[in-house]
Amino acid sequence: MRRPIIAGNWKMHKTARETAEFAEAFIPRIADVRDVEVVIAPPYTSIATLAEKARGTNLRVGAQNMHQEDQGAFTGEISAPMLKELGVEYVIIGHSERRAYYGETDEGVNLKVKKALASGLTPIMCVGETLEEREKDATADVVRLQVEEGLKGVVPGDGEKLVIAYEPVWAIGTGKTATPDQAQEVHSLIRKILGKLFGEETAKKVRILYGGSVKPENIASLMAQEDIDGALVGGASLKVDSFEKIVKYYEP
Ligand code: PGA
Repeated sequence: MRRPIIAGNWKMHKTARETAEFAEAFIPRIADVRDVEVVIAPPYTSIATLAEKARGTNLRVGAQNMHQEDQGAFTGEISAPMLKELGVEYVIIGHSERRAYYGETDEGVNLKVKKALASGLTPIMCVGETLEEREKDATADVVRLQVEEGLKGVVPGDGEKLVIAYEPVWAIGTGKTATPDQAQEVHSLIRKILGKLFGEETAKKVRILYGGSVKPENIASLMAQEDIDGALVGGASLKVDSFEKIVKYYEP
């Protein structure tokens, strides 16, 4: 019922030329993938190149962040209309690295999520607890607050267009993945929160991705969980072979 999404978050990796090389090798490999939405979010400087290569294929293009205003005196920022014009369809919002290093708050995330929805972009809103929070048994409270604050004022009709990524901070880039059970527990909590905010019917439609050291070796067991509808993949999306294997997680 929920179409899985496998999204690569390239972070600050690959020049435009490296992006073109990747796309030329990768796109033919996923040409026969039908039932998974495949997305790559490259750095801004590679978006035009990737969008050009992806046109008419089953690869979709995402961005890693955006500003909540359409234009203005915001040096260094990029807006939704700029992304849309290039063919971007998804935008990652509130990644933990942006929260930790660039001061992104739930309030800012909320403005960006609403802007993305209003602009026809699919927001991939990231939430997740730190190791310290997990050890204090605060995971549920932290995630609940991030989801509720991030989605304040979003109406149910827009709710179903949302994508949420649960990314435990302690699992990002560390090689430590949440176990499928640990991830499922939080995913099902997120779906319950969505049910309270938007109603059961909408909550059932929202794709909830897992992120944090997803690899070809662990993707199938994560995807087997009821409430895991895809993955947000950092390091393992940078290599054609490993990202192809993750996209085709359903192959034995
Ligand atoms: P990772 O990153 O797969 O390298 O752990 C995931 C993410 O930060 O989205």
